[in-house]
Amino acid sequence: MNLQFPEKFWWGAATSGPQTEGRFKKQHDNVFDYDFDHFQERFWGAIGPDTASNFFNDFRDDIELMKAAGLNSVRTSIQWSRLIDDLELGTLNEKAVEFYNAVIDEFLAHGIRPVINLHHFDLPVELLHKYGGWESRYVVDLYADFAGKCFELFSDRVSDWFTFNEPMVVVECGYLLGFHYPDVVDGKRAVQVAYHLQLASSLAIKKFRTINQNPAGQIGIILNLTPAYPASSHHADVFAAEMADLWQNRLFLDASVKGEFPSVLTEMLSAENALWKANDEDLSVIRQYKIDVLGVNYYHPSRVQEPEFSSDSLAQDFRPDKFYASYNKRGVRMNADRGWEIHPQTIYEIAKRIQNDYENLPWFISENGMGVANEQRFADNDGVIQDDYRIQFTTEHLYWLHKAISEGANCFGYHVWTPIDCWSWRNSYKNRYGLIALDIHTQVKTLKKSAHWFKSLSTAGVLEV
Ligand code: BG6
Repeated sequence: MNLQFPEKFWWGAATSGPQTEGRFKKQHDNVFDYDFDHFQERFWGAIGPDTASNFFNDFRDDIELMKAAGLNSVRTSIQWSRLIDDLELGTLNEKAVEFYNAVIDEFLAHGIRPVINLHHFDLPVELLHKYGGWESRYVVDLYADFAGKCFELFSDRVSDWFTFNEPMVVVECGYLLGFHYPDVVDGKRAVQVAYHLQLASSLAIKKFRTINQNPAGQIGIILNLTPAYPASSHHADVFAAEMADLWQNRLFLDASVKGEFPSVLTEMLSAENALWKANDEDLSVIRQYKIDVLGVNYYHPSRVQEPEFSSDSLAQDFRPDKFYASYNKRGVRMNADRGWEIHPQTIYEIAKRIQNDYENLPWFISENGMGVANEQRFADNDGVIQDDYRIQFTTEHLYWLHKAISEGANCFGYHVWTPIDCWSWRNSYKNRYGLIALDIHTQVKTLKKSAHWFKSLSTAGVLEV
C-alpha cells in the first residue's frame, strides 16, 4: 500500500546546539556543562558535551550529509550560552552571530528549512547559581531579551521559531526526579519553575510579534505529549490518568494554545497551597500571546495507575505528581535498549486530540525516533549500519500519522530524532538515534540504511507499507 503525504510536508530531523556543536568558543557554561565538569560519573561512559559531533567546525559537511539523507527541514537550537556575551546586559558574542548566520545561510543554500528552537535544556549555569534559574522572574526577562535578539538577528531568513523544547522535562528532571542539575526534589519549586517557563515562552512570543521581520514567520513551543493510559477502568486509575494528563500535558498545552491554565489544575494547586506566584500583568501576557504552531515530541506512551499512598507519603510535602504512579505494562512491545514501550498508534490519538480539543491547530511531529545501543553490530561489510528496526519504527509511526492526516489532522511535518548521532545528556552516546552514524573517535560520519530510505521517502512523499 502506498500512502501519499501532503505537498510541502516537512520531511526532516531534529537536533540541538548543546548536543552537537561542542563547547568550542562558548561564552558561558550551561547547566549540563557544569554538571559534567563536577559530576562526570553521572554521565554514561563519563562522556560529556565536549565530545560532540563537532557541528561548530563541521557544519558545512554535516549539512551536506543531511541533504544526502533527504531532509528538507532541520531543527536545531541557538545556544543562549553562546550567543550572548554579557548575560545581563544582553551584549552579543560576535563570533557566535557569525557562526549562526553561516549555519542558517548554509541550510538555506541547500534548500533545507532551518527550524530554530531557543532553549533545549541549556540554561546558562551562572543564572542558576546567581538568581535561582527558572525559579527567578528576573531570569524569565533575560530569556525573553535573548529571544528578542535572535528574532532581530535571524528572522529575516528564519521563519519557524520555537521557544522551548520539552519544558516539562526541565521541571520534572530538574525539580522532581533528581535526574538533571540542579537535582532538586521539591514540588512547590517545581510548580514555580513550570509557571515561569510558560511565562518565558509567552513573553518571547510577545517579542516576536513586534520584532519578526518575516511575513511567513510563525512561532510555537515543542511539548512532549502522550495520552496517559490508565491501568484499568477502575475509578482510582482513571483519576490517576486524569491527573497525569493535567500536569504532564495540559499545563503547557492549554496555556500555550488557549492562553489559560486548566482551572482544575490551578484549583488543585491552590487547595494544596502550592500554586505558583503570579501577577495579573504576567497572566495577561499568557492570555494574549499564544502559539501559531505546535511541535510534538513523541517516543513512548505514558501508563499510569493509582499511587500507593502510605500515611508517610500523605504527610510528605506537596508534589504535583503524587496523584499518579507510572508503570510499565507487561507483554507490550519494548525498545529494550532504551526501556521504552513502542506504541505507534498513540501518534494517531495525539493528532485526534489536537484536532478536536485544540482548535485543529497546525502542528508537526518535532521528534520521534528509536535509540539503539551498540549499533555497529548491525554494520555490513561496507560499514553501513543496516538499521531496518529504525525503518520499521518510523514506518509504523508514519502510518498512524497518515491516517490522522487523512481524517483532517492539521499536521504539516515529521522530524526524526536525529540527523547525526548526537550526545544526549546523562545518556551521552548510550543510545544512537541518527540517520547518520558518528564515530566519536574519528569523527567519521556515515549514512545508515535508514538515511537512504528516508531520502526516497521524502523525495516521493509516499510511504510504502
Ligand atoms: C528527547 C530530547 O526527549 O529525547 C533530546 O529532546 C534527547 O534532547 C532525546 O536527546 C533522546 O534522549 P535519550 O535519553 O534517549 O538519549
